[in-house]
Amino acid sequence: MRANRQNIQDHTIVGLDIGTATVTFVVCTQHDEGIEVIGIGESPTEGMQRGMVSNIEALVESIESAKAKASSMCMREIDRVMVGITGSHIRGTNSTGVVAIRGNEVTIDDIDRVTEAAQAVPISSGEKLLHILSQQYIVDGQTGIRHPLGMCGVRLEANAHVVTGSVSSIENLFKCVRSCNLQVDNVIINHIASGQAVLSEDEKALGVALLDIGHGTTDFAVYSEGSIVHSATFTTAGSMITQDIAVHLHTSQQEANRIKQTYGGAYTSSVDYSESFELTVIGEQRARQASRKYLVEVIEARLTEIFRLVKEELEQSGKIDLIRSGLVLTGGTSKLIDIEKLATTILGIPVRLGTTNYTGEMCELVGDPSFATGLGLCEYGSLIEEMETDLIGQRNIKNLPGNTASRAVSFIRKLFMREDHDLLQPHA
Ligand SMILES: Nc1ncnc2c1ncn2[C@@H]1O[C@H](COP(=O)(O)OP(=O)(O)OP(=O)(O)O)[C@@H](O)[C@H]1O
Ligand SMILES: [Mg+2]
Repeated sequence: MRANRQNIQDHTIVGLDIGTATVTFVVCTQHDEGIEVIGIGESPTEGMQRGMVSNIEALVESIESAKAKASSMCMREIDRVMVGITGSHIRGTNSTGVVAIRGNEVTIDDIDRVTEAAQAVPISSGEKLLHILSQQYIVDGQTGIRHPLGMCGVRLEANAHVVTGSVSSIENLFKCVRSCNLQVDNVIINHIASGQAVLSEDEKALGVALLDIGHGTTDFAVYSEGSIVHSATFTTAGSMITQDIAVHLHTSQQEANRIKQTYGGAYTSSVDYSESFELTVIGEQRARQASRKYLVEVIEARLTEIFRLVKEELEQSGKIDLIRSGLVLTGGTSKLIDIEKLATTILGIPVRLGTTNYTGEMCELVGDPSFATGLGLCEYGSLIEEMETDLIGQRNIKNLPGNTASRAVSFIRKLFMREDHDLLQPHA
């Protein structure tokens, strides 16, 4: 995706996707025409399980290795990153806040207060607020307002999707990032980042579901009228498919992963009985022939479980009627042949594959669904800066008394993370 913006100074934005299978850095420059990818760095991940840190030392090494590759490709020092986060600890809840408008028109201060009111969801002591994603504002009963600033009225309501995560899981991730001499610019849930990279604005407006099936996690988000209205994370993903193949075909995890990526598929009905492939079986010297139909049956069984989880989540959330544009699949596991056929059969809605929207330099490489999160993090970083620039540039804000420009920036940042988030402050 390339924004058509003016007045944005050239500078670098780095997305860091610490996936369960791969650590990915995407380095972009931001300029008038949008973002341009200038470097990427990938390294196999050690020390992550189902999207959460399981070995700090091993993960630091993986991040260092990917950072060195990205840095050498773009010939720049990398010292700040936008970090993606996922895992079963991430929780999204819809919430509403209401305040009285203090003057006769809505000011930044009113929006700030209504945002604070909307974040009042039950949060346990082990959880932290990550995002307050505004859905709509309501001024004196008028619904569907995206930009309430300056509107006349007496009562302001905000509907928001509030996202929280486990303090210890976030701290462990940040500890690893900081150990690599990287400052965390912002933290964004992978659901938002991937959605930014693969969904169109039209799809988000009409209503769409996004499913990022990775190695250790499957991130699910529902968008309606341009905003996230539901999010969930499942821990059934590609690693379980690999494990199933290893068990059913008596082979190593490494060989199972190879045959999954080379001969795998998602839809048994599309595979002919005559198709076969070679594999190495544990304890045997010579390679064996195996039926591709059987391999695909094993894969289809686990994918069916994932799509049934999605169906259940959609039914329970009551959001199924909102997804008029259907489901978009992304993440490395979405590369399984015919996966969209299986998803459509189970969910009964249109399904498409989500490669990234990016059309600039290196688009063939970063168009791959595995880059959805990393690229989306950069796009989100760019978007946040655009919004800050827009907000500061609005005359009605400039004319307000006090240090309004910095308040505006602080407000925008609050929507995506907590600027006062103690976890974002570097350790002394
Ligand atoms: N061509 C392919 N066919 C099938 N599966 C594939 C293919 N390419 C990659 N995968 C699988 O995709 C998974 C990796 O996807 P991805 O890079 O999105 O995960 P990740 O971001 O590292 O992990 P997560 O987001 O779950 O923490 C692995 O299980 C890998 O085996
Ligand atoms: Mg991922």
